[in-house]
Amino acid sequence: MRLDRVLANLNYGSRNDIKEMCKDKRIMVNGNIITDSSRQVFEKDEIKVDGKIVFHKDLFLLMLNKPDGFICANKDNLHKTVIDLIKEPYNRYELNICGRLDIDTHGLVLITNSGKLMHKIISPNSNIDKTYYVEYTGNINKTALESQMELLDGNNELYTTKGAKVEILGDNKCNITISEGKFHQVKRMFEHINCKVTYLKRIRIGNIVLDDNLKEGDYIEIDYNLLMC
Ligand code: URA
Repeated sequence: MRLDRVLANLNYGSRNDIKEMCKDKRIMVNGNIITDSSRQVFEKDEIKVDGKIVFHKDLFLLMLNKPDGFICANKDNLHKTVIDLIKEPYNRYELNICGRLDIDTHGLVLITNSGKLMHKIISPNSNIDKTYYVEYTGNINKTALESQMELLDGNNELYTTKGAKVEILGDNKCNITISEGKFHQVKRMFEHINCKVTYLKRIRIGNIVLDDNLKEGDYIEIDYNLLMC
């Protein structure tokens, strides 16, 4: 990609600003002062602006442990968002949230600078399993939960679930794995069997398991090849 585009995408200024910065000899690539802002740069190249190394990656994937009270949106006037939790250098990029959680759901959220990767992860065609840890009230009916059921989606239209895999963990605790991601799906599945979800945490997406050591609100960069989708 062109140097001016890389830096403009990272909010170092407009492409004209970058041109001026080059003229002022403020930009280096691999140790050389660059005067031509249109020159091509690659991920392996070291770019410095005013002597400071610029973090630039074509593609990265972040694992975030979402706390209660944050919404999965890029901006919101009312609530804090998961994107507010992302700091430098990652927040210089346009970020994509790979599958939303409700405001009161905890756990694994994947965030990437690649729209293509996000679409791959959330596309129903990818059929990626998601596992949730659930605490609930009421008497669970494992067979009913694992069977297909008719529920309302976000547009209040009926759809039939694909069925789930449930692992009972003890008193009113279980893990449930589904491959869809309809609006409030887990909560609605539990309502359907006359149970109420009291705590919900996503712990796995495909091959990616939420790191136990990751505190709520924290995130780490992970290898996107782990997804293998
Ligand atoms: N199912 C829900 O009901 N809520 C979530 O946040 C995720 C899955």
